[in-house]
Amino acid sequence: MSADLVDTFGRVHRDMRVSLTDKCNLRCTYCMPSDFADWLPGPSLLSTDELMQVLDVATSLGIDGVRLTGGEPLLRADVVDVVRRITELEHAPEISVTTNGLRLTTLAQPLADAGLKRVNVSLDTLDRDRFKAMTFRDRFDDVIAGIKAAQAAGLAPVKVNTVLMKGVNDDEAPALLRRALDEGWRLRFIEQMPLDPSGVWLRSTMITADDIYAWLTEHYTLTPVPARGSAPAEEFYVDGGPATVGIIASVTRPFCGACDRLRLTADGQLRNCLFARDELDLRTALRDEALAADPRALRTELERRLRLVVADKLPGHGINDANFIQPSRPMSAIGG
Ligand SMILES: C[S@@+](CC[C@H](N)C(=O)[O-])C[C@H]1O[C@@H](n2cnc3c(N)ncnc32)[C@H](O)[C@@H]1O
Repeated sequence: MSADLVDTFGRVHRDMRVSLTDKCNLRCTYCMPSDFADWLPGPSLLSTDELMQVLDVATSLGIDGVRLTGGEPLLRADVVDVVRRITELEHAPEISVTTNGLRLTTLAQPLADAGLKRVNVSLDTLDRDRFKAMTFRDRFDDVIAGIKAAQAAGLAPVKVNTVLMKGVNDDEAPALLRRALDEGWRLRFIEQMPLDPSGVWLRSTMITADDIYAWLTEHYTLTPVPARGSAPAEEFYVDGGPATVGIIASVTRPFCGACDRLRLTADGQLRNCLFARDELDLRTALRDEALAADPRALRTELERRLRLVVADKLPGHGINDANFIQPSRPMSAIGG
């Protein structure tokens, strides 16, 4: 496999986060305003054929992991077909999905049958009322049912992603780990990043990886798992293992030096970082009539644009810089 997507800091890019839609069926307070209505216009969204053209080129350049996200990726009507078609690419990557789990009860088995290997489900609380307050939807039971469906379909171990917020759910870390151990989930806590729609994120009030570590070690013995590689989570064995828990310290201990990720938005914009200020438009190339008539020229142009985005990547996400500016798009439109 080639490794062509190397940036000026020597980082080899192997992972692509692909947003399948900016739509979502929850309204997590830290992600999307409850009355959000500024959806991407339908014609701007990449068709599945266009998406496959991009992924065919990206995987030939060394991308070997594709994570489908959104918005809520399982809201895309042809998501099972998308998975199947990715497995049929010449250099088929490993496919995973990040989802809120709501549609897994019906989709887990078809997705597994289509070639999906792994699923991450986002769940921030074990309390039904809190879930409703945090997401503006009364769907806690559906998430739990979705996780069970994923496990039954062999998409195990299911990773569960949790964001803790001060005064909202920051008392739940040990209980979430207890539940994860009982149910066979692989739990990972993610520090809240400055991507909230109302711009109210504050470093002084955010829950840090150190807070979470301290709360967990009041109840459990955590031992670092060696060999983290480019994975964002610091992993720990719980009480000697084999179960583990992860803490993703995106803000307080950034792991940009090992970042191997690119992001493709649902409307065909390529980003080299969640916090990038710029995007590179692949959609115009995909829809250019002259290029469409000449598949080799289109391929060359897509390769060129992919390399450009990688070459432009900064050493870090800049959250901790004094002049940091939050991206203009909400997390749901970038693809989490
Ligand atoms: C944007 S969602 C998209 C995929 C899917 N709808 C889901 O719920 O997993 C992906 C992940 O981003 C996380 N996320 C969203 N906004 C965040 C923020 N401001 N800081 C940290 N994580 C965030 C969510 O908790 C979720 O785990």
